[in-house]
Amino acid sequence: SSPSAPPAAVAAPPGFFLERVLTVHHWTDRLFSFTCTRDPHFRFVAGQFAMIGLMVEGKPLVRAYSVVSAPWEEHLEFLSIKVQDGPLTSRLQHILPGDGVLIGRKSTGTLVTENLIPGGTLWLFATGTGLAPFLSLVREPETYDRFERVVVVHAVREVAELAYHDLLSRDLPEHELLGELVRDKLVYYPSVTREPFRNQGRPTTLVESGRLTADLGLPALSPERDRAMLCGSEAMNADMRAILEARGFTEGANNRPATYVVEKAFVTK
Ligand code: A2P
Repeated sequence: SSPSAPPAAVAAPPGFFLERVLTVHHWTDRLFSFTCTRDPHFRFVAGQFAMIGLMVEGKPLVRAYSVVSAPWEEHLEFLSIKVQDGPLTSRLQHILPGDGVLIGRKSTGTLVTENLIPGGTLWLFATGTGLAPFLSLVREPETYDRFERVVVVHAVREVAELAYHDLLSRDLPEHELLGELVRDKLVYYPSVTREPFRNQGRPTTLVESGRLTADLGLPALSPERDRAMLCGSEAMNADMRAILEARGFTEGANNRPATYVVEKAFVTK
């Protein structure tokens, strides 16, 4: 590089904002989240993702990450897996407050309320880090304008992987501004598949067996009164898609709202 080139951590490459890490939280040895500063020009809608990463050997190394924080929040937040030989997450897992992170200028994605016909119960089905976009959606007041009730179903293997459990079950219902909406309309249904827990089973099994709706005292899922968003592994998305389609749900997209939408929980090696 030429002697006049700025150091990697000082200038953002084209298409990116360079932000500063504020906090890092390690949930487990496979899962962490962090917050960073937000450029006022970075705009997004709850449920969308952006390209996030680091400068590595003078080049941006980025992956798609759903934004965890709400659009009205001053800072940004992201949730990530840690893969020991993953090109990005093997490095990103070591970030510390003050470090630089790259945030792509454009946000996009299908898990936005505009892509669903309003009304009824909104079911947010997540496995693992697929919870991320739903954390933004449940903190966006507009979500509650569009739906009568919002149910977050988060399935993980082990109890320790229930990231944001306390936020969803305790902090949000007590939140100064959102608390009333959340207490009125938000239902959190965590489920663990490989350890004892109060709720057990995959989201697919919970829907098919009728256990989920029975536990919540709600009627079986139907496109007349329910809407769904899916964000998990490819297997969970495919299986849940089949269950919903068999019940008459149809997939929505940008400019074509329908009764469910789906997006892969990004595996960000
Ligand atoms: P299970 O423990 O029965 O495999 P992972 O950590 O592998 O991404 O899994 C996260 C959660 O997703 C686990 O609870 C896992 O259940 C569940 N899961 C995996 N495959 C599917 C699927 N095809 N449908 C629904 N849930 C699934």
